[in-house]
Amino acid sequence: MVMVNVWAIGRDGRVWKNPNCFEPERFLESQIGFKGRDFELLPFGAGRRICPGLPLADRMVPLILGALLHRFDWEIEDGMKAEALNMEEKFGLTLQKALPLRAVPVSVS
Ligand code: HEM
Repeated sequence: MVMVNVWAIGRDGRVWKNPNCFEPERFLESQIGFKGRDFELLPFGAGRRICPGLPLADRMVPLILGALLHRFDWEIEDGMKAEALNMEEKFGLTLQKALPLRAVPVSVS
């Protein structure tokens, strides 16, 4: 069994500029796709065991995220500022936030 460290690939400075910064706009002009053919980016895995839910997720994630962002403003609980957010990680087979993010939707009506 081969365990691929996708976390390390995603933070490799030889592949990504500012690898530790959240810059989703880096993908706007990029030719790198997420469907398992470009090994720099493998959110769904690759090859014969690639995630079979990819086509569903490809459609549903933008739809749901877009609807939530369009319909609500978002705050962090207890009036916390984004800069104060705890970004520590909890090590495991998959990496998680040490403290889960609790985002509060506020209706924009
Ligand atoms: C953003 C959403 C999702 C992400 C990032 C994701 C990611 C992954 C990854 C990384 C794997 C392991 C692939 C590998 O071993 O190379 C996987 C496997 C799998 N995913 Fe997903 N997945 C998502 C959504 C879904 C959905 C919506 C379904 C079902 C409706 C699904 C069903 C599965 C199943 C059954 C496997 C196991 C496939 C196997 O081992 O042969 N996933 N997924």
